[in-house]
Amino acid sequence: MKRILVTGGVGFIGSHTCYSLLENNFNLCVIDSLVNSNIKSLEKIKYIFKKKKIDISAKLEFLKGDLKDKIFLDGVFKNAEQQKKPFDGVIHFAGLKAVAESVAKPFLYWENNVIGSFNLINSMEKYDCKTIVFSSSATVYGASTKRVLNEVSKINPINPYGSTKIAIENLLNDISMSLKKEWKIAILRYFNPIGAHNSGLLGENPLQKPNNIFPIIINSAFENKTMKVFGDDWPTHDGTCIRDYIHVEDLAEGHVKALKHLFQNKSQNITLNIGTGKGISVLELIKTFQEINSVKVPYVIEKRREGDVCKLIADNSKAKNILNWSPQKSLNEMCQDGWQWKCLNPNGY
Ligand code: WQD
Repeated sequence: MKRILVTGGVGFIGSHTCYSLLENNFNLCVIDSLVNSNIKSLEKIKYIFKKKKIDISAKLEFLKGDLKDKIFLDGVFKNAEQQKKPFDGVIHFAGLKAVAESVAKPFLYWENNVIGSFNLINSMEKYDCKTIVFSSSATVYGASTKRVLNEVSKINPINPYGSTKIAIENLLNDISMSLKKEWKIAILRYFNPIGAHNSGLLGENPLQKPNNIFPIIINSAFENKTMKVFGDDWPTHDGTCIRDYIHVEDLAEGHVKALKHLFQNKSQNITLNIGTGKGISVLELIKTFQEINSVKVPYVIEKRREGDVCKLIADNSKAKNILNWSPQKSLNEMCQDGWQWKCLNPNGY
């Protein structure tokens, strides 16, 4: 069984991907600083498997630490080597990810996301672990008037979050060019991951006030609290921004398929859009959430949010073809699973 180092594996996307990796018989070592995640997500993963009479405790190791701490990071790889349990690959989630917050705190984002990633990739090179799936973002495309975006669409991040993601992509691309016979790299550009695990036991659990829309919609419905819709004067059919919302379980599956693809093929460097190819406006998302869950989401129209772009929709054909992956879950299921998570876990983990 292959052993995978998962950075940021306690978080929203990370925990759902760890679940899928374990279902696919990988052994995991999760490292996470817990700055924006709750360790209970890993306990819940163990519980879900236990309910299926499967004990995965020997396959799911956790180490608390920060990628900015080079001594911690080197120790993780050195111990793996000394225990004769080297890592066969890395899935790299760890990073701050709020667009609005990155506009306010660029230093924090560059240090955390870029320096942390540099340290990780440096350690991988040093310990001869050269297979990585990297969690990038559609935010690297910036403002685009194109209907859908493919992987060669213009790169033009308009917020520090997106700038850090393309900086890390550029580092990986440079490494692939210079050491092209060795590294296997899959860069996954997420669009807008929402929803929760269908068990109702894993979900998005922001420790601070959320910036992204889906937990805000959920909290607005749960607490009958008026949320803000940032702008209804965008050039779209209903004046609100359009995004490509994808179920977090479909996104997790995309990571597992990307990792398997790298293991099954020679050294390469691929960049893939992971989205559904369907654009949904803010008001359409709110309407769907209300209807499918029979709840009310009170909202008020406010002015546009700094750093926002009008439309981000994925052309996901490359991922479909290369990974034999395709998103399975509907917007209704995203809304149902997200609401179920909140109702079963009103205070999160
Ligand atoms: C979506 C839309 C807002 C909050 C996302 C993820 C981020 C990263 C990049 C993966 C926008 C509107 C929001 C609110 C609103 N993902 N909105 N009221 O900015 O597309 O960024 O992609 O790497 O983690 O968040 O997502 O959810 O912040 O905003 O009207 O209270 O919802 O204006 O149009 P965004 P978002």
